[in-house]
Amino acid sequence: MNSEELILVTGATGFLGVQLVRELLERHPEARLALLVRDRVGQSGQERANSFIPSVERARVQVFPGDVSLSECGLDAETYRRLQTETTRVVHSAATVRFDHSLDEARRINVEGTRHILDFAAGSRLLRSFAYVGTAYVAGERSGLVREDELAVGQTYRNTYEQTKAEAEALVRSRLGSMPGVILRPSIIVGDSRTGVTSSFKMMYWPLKIYARRLWRTVPGYPDAVLDIVPVDFVASAVDRLLFDEAALGSTVHLCAGPDGSATIDQIAHRAMEYFNGPEPRYVDPRFFFAVLRPLLFISLWGRKRRVLRDGRAYRDYFTMRMQFDTSNAGRLLKPAGIAPPPVLDYLDRLFHYCVASEWGRKPVSAS
Ligand SMILES: NC(=O)c1ccc[n+]([C@@H]2O[C@H](COP(=O)([O-])OP(=O)(O)OC[C@H]3O[C@@H](n4cnc5c(N)ncnc54)[C@H](OP(=O)(O)O)[C@@H]3O)[C@@H](O)[C@H]2O)c1
Repeated sequence: MNSEELILVTGATGFLGVQLVRELLERHPEARLALLVRDRVGQSGQERANSFIPSVERARVQVFPGDVSLSECGLDAETYRRLQTETTRVVHSAATVRFDHSLDEARRINVEGTRHILDFAAGSRLLRSFAYVGTAYVAGERSGLVREDELAVGQTYRNTYEQTKAEAEALVRSRLGSMPGVILRPSIIVGDSRTGVTSSFKMMYWPLKIYARRLWRTVPGYPDAVLDIVPVDFVASAVDRLLFDEAALGSTVHLCAGPDGSATIDQIAHRAMEYFNGPEPRYVDPRFFFAVLRPLLFISLWGRKRRVLRDGRAYRDYFTMRMQFDTSNAGRLLKPAGIAPPPVLDYLDRLFHYCVASEWGRKPVSAS
């Protein structure tokens, strides 16, 4: 590492971004970081960044209030050119991860936002690598083994998130011929494998929470459906490693547990049953559940259970997946550096423990 490195990070305030910024600061003590952060009502981008950047590191982190969906990321022309001239590496992690955005809204952030960052990087003469954080779920509704070099193979998508992340990845691929870069595809990111700490209680956490609170135990899915999850500490160190690895340039890398490390819904459900001392989960064919049972329950249930039915719709497809992610490139590039995702069942209890200790994100604690 030399002191000329300036790493631009988008999405730094996000679940992955915060961990990634900490990793970059720790691993590259000479590097400078530029964070593109949106202002919020009543809180500047700088104030937001200060909440997670240790004060001793602030001198080498510069915050740029901006928005990837805007032309030139909302930066003024002079700042944009100056940053472009000095940037050596880019990690583009900013995205909307909501499943319920309209296609236009999701495209504005995920596709046009990516285009704006690619345009920025294309004008950076010192650029050594552009790391794009995609998602393994660009595979959409495929089943079977998904390879890292595959993108559009005629699959359909469950939501506008998957679709627009696939469109954005296609855009990145079209530029990688003329730009050094790497595409990184995490599966479902969960808390830290060593401490269980997470700032995000979406995805896997929501069904767990309603189960742990005895609000629901019917799974509209298949016990052998595959859940590929990866801890945020693994993803952050893999992104850092691959951002600095010349051998990775031009590759697409699944940051996933893969066929050997992932778990089935039933394995996870049983682990949750033991941990939360809950009832045996009940499986219902999802087609029957959504066509017949759910409409009936919606009429007869009220209050919290009805809200569970309503909110649970967003997660419906994640109980039915029979897709596995091949991790050949990840193994080739990361294993020699000692970076590999731990098997899901090895750290699940630590995730549960943090959920309980933090009251599902309501109480700030650090896991022991
Ligand atoms: N979480 C997962 O399970 C998962 C799995 C696979 C892939 N990924 C990918 O990993 C990346 C990070 O995800 P995450 O879980 O960290 O998401 P997150 O917690 O929702 O963070 C998203 C980040 O993007 C920023 N952002 C959104 N729209 C923006 C805009 N228009 N301009 C500038 N910044 C904007 C957000 O800024 P604000 O704080 O201002 O909103 C935030 O920093 C995404 O690309 C996602 O597709 C995530």
